[in-house]
Amino acid sequence: MIFKDKIVWITGASSGIGEALAKAFNKEGAKVILSARNTLELKRVQESFINQHIPSAILPLDIQKYLELPKEVVKAIALFGKIDILINNAGISQRELAVDTPFEEDLKIIEIDLLGTIAITKALLPHFIKNGNSQIVVISSVMGKINTKYRTAYAAAKHGTVGYFESLRLELGNKVNVCNIMPGFIATNIVKNAVSKTYNPNNQNAAGMKPDEFAEIALKAIHAKKKNVYIGGMKEQFAMILKRISPSLFDWFIKDLKVV
Ligand SMILES: NC(=O)c1ccc[n+]([C@@H]2O[C@H](COP(=O)([O-])OP(=O)(O)OC[C@H]3O[C@@H](n4cnc5c(N)ncnc54)[C@H](OP(=O)(O)O)[C@@H]3O)[C@@H](O)[C@H]2O)c1
Repeated sequence: MIFKDKIVWITGASSGIGEALAKAFNKEGAKVILSARNTLELKRVQESFINQHIPSAILPLDIQKYLELPKEVVKAIALFGKIDILINNAGISQRELAVDTPFEEDLKIIEIDLLGTIAITKALLPHFIKNGNSQIVVISSVMGKINTKYRTAYAAAKHGTVGYFESLRLELGNKVNVCNIMPGFIATNIVKNAVSKTYNPNNQNAAGMKPDEFAEIALKAIHAKKKNVYIGGMKEQFAMILKRISPSLFDWFIKDLKVV
């Protein structure tokens, strides 16, 4: 039980990666606070916990309503008296060309994936700085370091997320650990829930890493207080390395790849 008695708040805990992380933290002894919009799904996840005797709580919220998040942070702290680890995971993706994406949808992606994530973190910062030995984890994406077609707003939001949290890490020093986890393709509902006019059930994510496997690796990284962690398959990792070595070679390699 490597997280025994730690209080862990997870956004986007009703599905996919957040659900798998919630179950894994409960298994490792943490008291988990589950947040997302869908209360019924949050209850389903909570009821699936293996350690039912360990207290957990549901705090429904909409991260897109970022001006209301400071109030949700007060409620979250009140549940168990403090928070030790915040997992910024809630997010939506995109499978649409920029020309076909209405601006309202660009805004939605940036509000949920970037602004909501920043707002919840900022509201918790004074609590974390006062307590020390706390952790901020952000589930960003390989799309925070590389880029493909059909992801303009998503890449913008995730590049922004990586930039924000890597800068924040420099400001916080050793007071609060900031762990940026960049998943590759993980088999969740992300494509089904993405901003898109069409849904391709044979998408690359469906063939990606299973969320439980992701969660197991992520928990080890969080426990080891890692700073930047990639979790996923070889080809996404190769793309990240190629982009770093030669951005122009990366553009040539990626421009005709099927990424929907
Ligand atoms: N799957 C991948 O391949 C992959 C790769 C790279 C990065 N990621 C990142 O991993 C994170 C989790 O995605 P996933 O793959 O697990 O997708 P998912 O299965 O679609 O889960 C997304 C989660 O975010 C929550 N969410 C969405 N909009 C929200 C809002 N306005 N307010 C509060 N919660 C909201 C959803 O809950 P409700 O609908 O109940 O609100 C759900 O719990 C995202 O940040 C995503 O960008 C995923």
